[in-house]
Formats: sequence, C-alpha cells, structure tokens
Amino acid sequence: MLVDKYNRSFPYLRLSITEVCNFSCNYCLPDGYKKTGAEHFLNQDEIRRLVDAFVELGVWKIRLTGGEPTIRKDFTEIAKMIGDRPEIDTLAFTTNGYRLKERAQEWHDAGLNAINVSIDSLNAKKFHAITGHDRMQEVREGIDKAIEVGFKDVKINVVLLKGVNDDELDNYLEYVKDTPVSVRYIELMQTGDNLTYFNKFHLSSDTVKDKLLAQGWVENIRALGAGPAANFTHADYAGSIGLIAPYSKDFCTNCNRLRITSSGDLRLCLFGNVGIPLRHMLHNDDQKGDLVAAISKQLDYKASSHFLALGDTGIMTNLSSTGG
Ligand code: 5AD
Ligand code: SF4
Repeated sequence: MLVDKYNRSFPYLRLSITEVCNFSCNYCLPDGYKKTGAEHFLNQDEIRRLVDAFVELGVWKIRLTGGEPTIRKDFTEIAKMIGDRPEIDTLAFTTNGYRLKERAQEWHDAGLNAINVSIDSLNAKKFHAITGHDRMQEVREGIDKAIEVGFKDVKINVVLLKGVNDDELDNYLEYVKDTPVSVRYIELMQTGDNLTYFNKFHLSSDTVKDKLLAQGWVENIRALGAGPAANFTHADYAGSIGLIAPYSKDFCTNCNRLRITSSGDLRLCLFGNVGIPLRHMLHNDDQKGDLVAAISKQLDYKASSHFLALGDTGIMTNLSSTGG
C-alpha cells in the first residue's frame, strides 16, 4: 500500500479520461469546453497499464472523472476493463447526469458500482442558470434509475454558492428524507481562472453545519481510510449529508487519493504545483516496473497540505482540466 511521510495511505485513484464536457457550469467552464490544440487523451491500453501499476501499489478504489467521463465513446469499455479486475472493490464515476437514465443499467453491468452526480440546485430554473442546461428533472430521473439498477453508493454533489443555492438546504433535506443518497455540499474552490467568481460566491459550509446540528443531525466519526468529507446522519432520514470544506484546517489530514490527468500526469494534490508525466512509461507492458517505482518515489514529495488559504491554486485552471 502507498503510504506517505505523514502516514497517509492512498487506496484511491481518481482517473480523468477526458477534459471535454457538454455542460458549462458557471464555476468551472462558464463558456463551455473550448478545445485548445490537439486532444490526445489516454487510450485504453495506457489506462490499462496505469490501473495495473496502481493495483500493484494497493489501490482498490478508482473513480473515472473528467471533464464529463461519459462523453467518451469508449466509456463503457473502459469501465468494463477496470471493473473486471477483482482487486478493484469500488469503481466509481463522477458525472453531470447527462443520459444517466438511459444508460445507468449498461454502466452498472459494466462493473461501475458507485456514482457521484452533480445537482447544484433542485430548482429547475436555477439548475439551468448554473449549468447552461435545462435538465434538472432528467438528471433526477437518472439518479432514481441508478438506485433502481443497484448502484450501492449514490452521491449528489452540490457546490455551495452564496446567494444562489444557499437557501436550498430544506429542499435537499426533503429529498434525502426517503431517498437513500448522500448529498455532499462542496465549498466553492478557487481555481486559476475563477477568482472574481470565487470572491463573489464562496460561502463557508459552516453555515450548513450549524443548521444541520440545530435540526438534530449528528456528525459521524470518520471511518479509517475515509476521505476528507464530514458526514452527518439523522434517524428520520434515509439519506445523509456530507460537507466538503477544503478551506478547513484538517482537510488534508485525511487525504487518501492520488490523481491522474487525462494526458497521463500524476497529480499529488488537486492544488499542487507539479504534474509528473507518466505517459512515457505507458507505451508497453514491460515498463510496469519503472512505472510502479516512479509513482512510489513521487509520493515522497507529497506535501502535508495545500496552500489555498494563501490564494495559491497551483497549476489548475479549472476542475475539468485536472479532474474533479
Ligand atoms: N469548486 C468546487 N467544486 C467544483 N466542481 C467543479 N469545479 C468546482 C469548484 N471550482 C465540482 C463539480 C462536480 C465535482 C467533480 O467538482 O460540481 O460536482
Ligand atoms: Fe462539466 Fe463538471 Fe465542469 Fe460542470 S463542473 S462544466 S459538469 S466538468
């Protein structure tokens, strides 16, 4: 198992397979995805070799992300290739929910068993304004379908936006009353290209925490190996609420993941200043030893925390470029 010098272990890999996205969320790709130069995302053989190396290093959870990972024509094939590996216990993906209703069954059959879907508002008009797509109802139906076909872990991502959706907690609570999903409020993060937006809309998730505690929600003890989210449950509710607060003091203490960008760079931190190219070690199966050695060595350089509080967002321009 990969362990760093701060005694954090890394069973979890977030693998971006494309930068392309068909949505244009205000905080991420306000003008939509723009192609810059030739696109050359990791191919299936390269992905297979990466997975092979990370499995050897003890990874048992992989999330396919992007951009919008399901935009790739070979998304199901990639999922199946990874899903067929017995060492991978959890194969997750993060999606905007586009075509989820139609394809949930196919994706689950391929071996995906956990899903994160973004719904930044349960108000159809606001959802449209945030994402550029009038698809809130459709995405919700997709989530129902995902539960129905047997995804064991269904999460809803909500980026908390001051004056936009910070009045919607009651709507989400009503939603999780009978629906067994985890709604995760994510604090807006500053990226390389959203400073003005960030200053205008960032809101601490403490506001949500206070309301939850006042209504009898209880913060669960973090399970060993759990990621940086704080989770809240309530006996009268089927679902749960999670808070992801990257600006909080202890956020990085629980870091359990590494990232690979869609062009094969290893990122030790979402907000790190270095991307370590691995692609030259993905040409053939014989390079596995070098690849495994390179990844373990890089872990020595993983910093104890990010420097977001200092306004240092690292080299990330937006989340679709690094993988959400
Ligand atoms: N801050 C917080 N969350 C973000 N996401 C994308 N950009 C940002 C940002 N700047 C979220 C998406 C999605 C997840 C992958 O990351 O809404 O839910
Ligand atoms: Fe696309 Fe996700 Fe970015 Fe929205 S947040 S534009 S769905 S990559």
